[in-house]
Amino acid sequence: MVGGARLEGSVRVPGAKNSVLKLMAAALLAEGTTTLVDVPDILDVRIMAELLRRLGCEVHHDRVGGVVSIRVPGTPSHRADYELVRAMRASICVLGPLVARCGRAEVALPGGDAIGSRGLDLHVTGLGALGVTIGVDHGYLVAEAATGLLGATVRLEFPSVGATENLLTAAVLARGTTVIDNAAREPEIVDLCRMLRRMGARLDGIGTSTLRIEGVDRLGPVEHRVVPDRIVAGTWAFAAAVTGGDLEIRNGETGHLGMVLDKLETSGSVVSVLPDGFRVTGPKRPRAIDVATLPYPGFPTDLQPFVITLDAVSDGAAMVTENLFEARFRFVQEIARLGAQVKVDGHHALVHGVPRLSAAPVEASDIRAGAALVLAGLVAEGETVVAGVQHIDRGYAAMDVVLRGLGAEVTRTTLPEYTYP
Ligand code: UD1
Repeated sequence: MVGGARLEGSVRVPGAKNSVLKLMAAALLAEGTTTLVDVPDILDVRIMAELLRRLGCEVHHDRVGGVVSIRVPGTPSHRADYELVRAMRASICVLGPLVARCGRAEVALPGGDAIGSRGLDLHVTGLGALGVTIGVDHGYLVAEAATGLLGATVRLEFPSVGATENLLTAAVLARGTTVIDNAAREPEIVDLCRMLRRMGARLDGIGTSTLRIEGVDRLGPVEHRVVPDRIVAGTWAFAAAVTGGDLEIRNGETGHLGMVLDKLETSGSVVSVLPDGFRVTGPKRPRAIDVATLPYPGFPTDLQPFVITLDAVSDGAAMVTENLFEARFRFVQEIARLGAQVKVDGHHALVHGVPRLSAAPVEASDIRAGAALVLAGLVAEGETVVAGVQHIDRGYAAMDVVLRGLGAEVTRTTLPEYTYP
């Protein structure tokens, strides 16, 4: 891409990656056809569709219409292969539904984003409290609930998104009452809770840090619209802010981005609410903003690389603190190649803004780092080449095409490596 363009126009935010993957897994809880609407056309959805097919489901993905339908058999199989799990760490979210439905699950130990070693201890101890025994055998987590799942009180040490989801999707079919204390409260968890409730699950406390679930014997398939992707909406908000642009972000949910939009306003952007989304008008040059990432409703870690990008070209200096995934700072080494002045000390990054970045070849290490490098390239003098764009495909549909529509000079030189239909 060639730097210098102000992004202008309108973009539509599709359903959230981090929700739809879990909703697809949750479909396993009910025999019959579950339909999901407003599904983004991204690589991770194809990987999850393939994983479900291998578990015995029939999956139809209408990529243009954004609809996925999943026909779940009476008895799904229970083994999630390494080939798919290593391609996408979120595959671990089939663990809860499979053990609840089949009494057994074998899920390869995950790989996925290169953003640090993400533990599974909270998943394991939480499910253990519900009567699941979990061991590791030849690289697979083997979970068994020989006599069925039994409700229990689980106090999570940390409000882990993935652990909350696996516990929820197991507890809905357990005997008795489960209480998840210190549960994650992300909008994607709320979305999952809403779908589970419509499937017939009995749960209270949606959107709070205490979820209470009364197990039921069976759940039924439903049709469900996926919550808008707040991280994609946030990406476009930062794109406007960084390039001094003006973007209408349709289907963007301001209620899910409170902290993010406050920070953008502090940095000089103007944010206004529209009937079907919001609009961000970026300043000539942003002011630097201090940010510390935290679980929702704190500032999302997924948007942290965009903050560093904004601070890198801002007027001033700021501290960015990463409290969830330290390895997200890998991105710093790459943006430094574009002339960004960033000093990392443990989980803090001190960024001194410079008036302009300068183009260089860089490499994406994960989805958000990839998208943030693209934004950085849009404000770098000269032609920046971002390698590893397959990471971007995992979370953004045709980002290059969308950017061209907004006035950016971007070309894609490698074709998407889509292996799954
Ligand atoms: C999800 C999102 C990811 C987002 C993250 C935090 C998906 C597919 N991914 O990831 O984009 O950045 O939430 O909002 O939805 N941890 C443990 N032990 C555990 C579980 C987690 O130590 O058993 C730690 C992790 O190492 C990490 C932190 O908790 O440091 C957050 O993890 P978690 O909230 O579970 O995030 P994910 O579900 O992996």
